[in-house]
Amino acid sequence: MTMRVVQLGVGSVGEVIARTLAEEPDVTEVLLADLDEGRLAEVAGKLPEGKAVTRRLDARDPEALRETLRGADLAVNALLPELNVEVMRACLDVGCGYLDLAAGGPREIVGTPDMDEQFALDGAFRERGISALLFCGIDPGASDVFARALYDEMDTVERLVVYDGDNGWAEGFEFVTSFSPAIMIEESLLLPPERFEDGELIQSEPLSISAEFDFPDPVGRLRVWHIDHEEPALMSRFLAAKGLRFASFYIALADPWVELLRSWKRLGLAHKDEIEFAGCRFRPFDLLVSRLPRPVDLIGKLHGAVCVGTLAEGTVGGERVRRFMYQVTSHDEAYERMGVQGTGLQTGIPAACGALMVLREEVPGPGVFAPEQIDPTRFLALMTEHGAPWSVVDLPVGG
Ligand SMILES: NC(=O)c1ccc[n+]([C@@H]2O[C@H](COP(=O)([O-])OP(=O)(O)OC[C@H]3O[C@@H](n4cnc5c(N)ncnc54)[C@H](O)[C@@H]3O)[C@@H](O)[C@H]2O)c1
Repeated sequence: MTMRVVQLGVGSVGEVIARTLAEEPDVTEVLLADLDEGRLAEVAGKLPEGKAVTRRLDARDPEALRETLRGADLAVNALLPELNVEVMRACLDVGCGYLDLAAGGPREIVGTPDMDEQFALDGAFRERGISALLFCGIDPGASDVFARALYDEMDTVERLVVYDGDNGWAEGFEFVTSFSPAIMIEESLLLPPERFEDGELIQSEPLSISAEFDFPDPVGRLRVWHIDHEEPALMSRFLAAKGLRFASFYIALADPWVELLRSWKRLGLAHKDEIEFAGCRFRPFDLLVSRLPRPVDLIGKLHGAVCVGTLAEGTVGGERVRRFMYQVTSHDEAYERMGVQGTGLQTGIPAACGALMVLREEVPGPGVFAPEQIDPTRFLALMTEHGAPWSVVDLPVGG
């Protein structure tokens, strides 16, 4: 069987996905599509001989997007989530599978479609006989599959909490986000974080809830913040049947970064609207994003390691357990192994594993799926096979 993939976006994560998929014998061609011609040439040069085709594309152009996807088996969307629904509609038109990495929205705050608008296309994907796997990176993505794997092996699951901790630092930059800065600012500053508690999704003020978490070696103890993320909504939608009462998401943020975001908010700039200053109209949001390095600017400059894991609390055989399933990636080893930064590698490998499951028809069938709905055993085996091994540890009960 021969398969053609279109990789939309060859930034930090898209590069790793494209290179991982191109190594598979049954993937015969990877069409790399991006606005940035420099990145297209750079990434194409790292794919196996004869597998890469490049196309400069502005994915906001619906015709050019359809033209790019025509004849492909799968579109991997590593652009910003604002284009998710547009790309899904293009996949429906040309009849190719779909995978993305994160949800956008809600429209009333950030002006982009949210996960419900994507799941609403389930019927259309079923009718067309094609599959879409949503939000399949490390978190969301592997974090949700970890939750599903733990859910399957436990008798009751009352709490599911995702912890993301990076103890890294970047040479030459004061403030960095290891993935797209626009999304990091949206989810930590603009959006009220949502947690699932006793049957409902509850919102709180951005950057108002924090805790400390002991990540496994070599990451260690870090302050983590409750921010907006996909997992509480996904886990409460798909993994509630064994008594789920609480689901949440926490990420480690450096103190200076939290202070910067809080100050930005105190200055009245925590929004995506235009303002007028000195005769110019501009969005303070774009100004802040423009002051931060792109994720690919951090290649070779990030040091340290990142751990992403899901903690499930419940019972097995009548005994209480707190079971943590996690993946650790070192930024330094990612650079040595593939010449990329750790977050790009840690996100790109699970995305490529999900992409292979869509391509090989190993997802539940035609339709639109969350990572919670796919076979965790197969996905976890693919992660290990592709150099992203994971671990499970039982933490002290009551900790
Ligand atoms: N689920 C996860 O674990 C996870 C982790 C990291 C990133 N992400 C998501 O993955 C996506 C990519 O992240 P990244 O860190 O690689 O970002 P990035 O900024 O490095 O890459 C984005 C790429 O998209 C290209 N692009 C942007 N707009 C375009 C357009 N209109 N047409 C064509 N190309 C365009 C850019 O040129 C860039 O190369 C983001 O949506 C991010 O939120 C998810």
